[in-house]
Amino acid sequence: MTGRFMANCRICDGILHEFIDLGQQPLSDAFPAPGATEGEFFFRLAAGLCQECTMVQLMEEVPREKMFHQDYPYHSSGSSVMREHFEETARRFLKDALPGPDPFLVELGCNDGVMLGAVSAAGVRHLGVEPSGGVAEVARGKGVRVRTAFFEEETALAIAAEDGRADVVYAANTLCHIPYLDSIFRGLDALLKPDGIFVFEDPYLGEIVERTSFDQIYDEHFYFFTARSVRAMAARFGFELVDVERLPVHGGEVRYTLARRGRRTPAPAVAALLADEERAGLAEPATLDRFAADVARVRTDLVELLRTLRAQGRRVVAYGATAKSATVANYCGIGPELVEFVCDTTPAKQGRLTPGSHIPVRPARAFGDPYPDFALLFAWNHAEEIMAKEREFGEAGGRWILYVPEVRTV
Ligand code: SAH
Ligand code: TYD
Ligand code: ZN
Repeated sequence: MTGRFMANCRICDGILHEFIDLGQQPLSDAFPAPGATEGEFFFRLAAGLCQECTMVQLMEEVPREKMFHQDYPYHSSGSSVMREHFEETARRFLKDALPGPDPFLVELGCNDGVMLGAVSAAGVRHLGVEPSGGVAEVARGKGVRVRTAFFEEETALAIAAEDGRADVVYAANTLCHIPYLDSIFRGLDALLKPDGIFVFEDPYLGEIVERTSFDQIYDEHFYFFTARSVRAMAARFGFELVDVERLPVHGGEVRYTLARRGRRTPAPAVAALLADEERAGLAEPATLDRFAADVARVRTDLVELLRTLRAQGRRVVAYGATAKSATVANYCGIGPELVEFVCDTTPAKQGRLTPGSHIPVRPARAFGDPYPDFALLFAWNHAEEIMAKEREFGEAGGRWILYVPEVRTV
């Protein structure tokens, strides 16, 4: 079985310029048990640029129920840096964005309650919408109110009827996971107060292209936003891009704020980012074709390094069984013959195999038992946090292998 083939833009039906094909790829968050790899789902992971609205998107759509379900293993609270990031986000909403006597905040994809936990603790009316039942249950354990559902028009209408309209709808690393944006925006229109805002943050195409972080491309990441493509998308659905803010998390993101058309004056940051994007040529096919060539070079360099180390009898393990690493491992053909195991703190991934590439996943403590010679940092977006935590590895002579923005050891 394969996903759905798309040759036209999922938003505006414009023709897509396909610029990269990363081959047959599995579900990035489906970790099979050893011996249970039969029947793994694969689809063609390729991305294209819409020649009309400039939205970069996957060429094939994976059915949402295959990705987001009871056993979805990603827990947002697994990183201390991300916990701080979302606590700060909650503080800012509580301080600046929730006016009136009884404000209401809705979060799409609240996951394990990493952000809403703080909103709940402040006693502010909120609701998380989260289709993955397991993580939703963890959020409830933190006092967060959660509706186990995919957000879409129907869900929004039900929420508006039961709870009233929202001041803020927020989505972190979630909007880019949702192909069906027409339904999402009809839902936002039904759910937001007239002056309500929609705030969302996702990996930024500008950063992906600049740093060749091609592993941001995987089944769950359907869209790769820019200020320009978001502005066009917002306009199509009756909204307006009124603010942007660059964020350092997850390898470089942008937080976008949308309001209903004409309700707010756009901040100067919007024009500034649009100008940066113009200079970087982010809407030009040639720029993305160049990115694809850079990606191929990273693959060549990484495979060569791993093969050389292996031939020298060095021990190489990987660190962080990220969704992103499914793309790297499957595109580069990295399996257990090149990397002994991957260590990861997520209990649901441990004892399993990485999707498609079948590298065993072990608990974090396996890393130092004993330390390998090299550690391939799949969770490169958490480099600072992980390298600080694993200082002893470096002190023992171990070296990290990085591949963003280029292949090197440190
Ligand atoms: N906001 C968290 C989680 C991101 S993972 C963070 O930034 O860390 C993406 C989440 O979106 C998953 O928990 C997934 O179950 C959820 N999701 C996917 N489709 C959704 C939809 N249509 N509505 C709401 N949540 C959705
Ligand atoms: P992350 O890079 O946040 O996202 P994605 O899966 O979307 O690519 O995933 C981080 C993974 O790395 C997650 O499985 C938890 C793991 N991890 C560790 O094992 N140790 C750590 O110290 C941190 C920060 C993450
Ligand atoms: Zn388009």
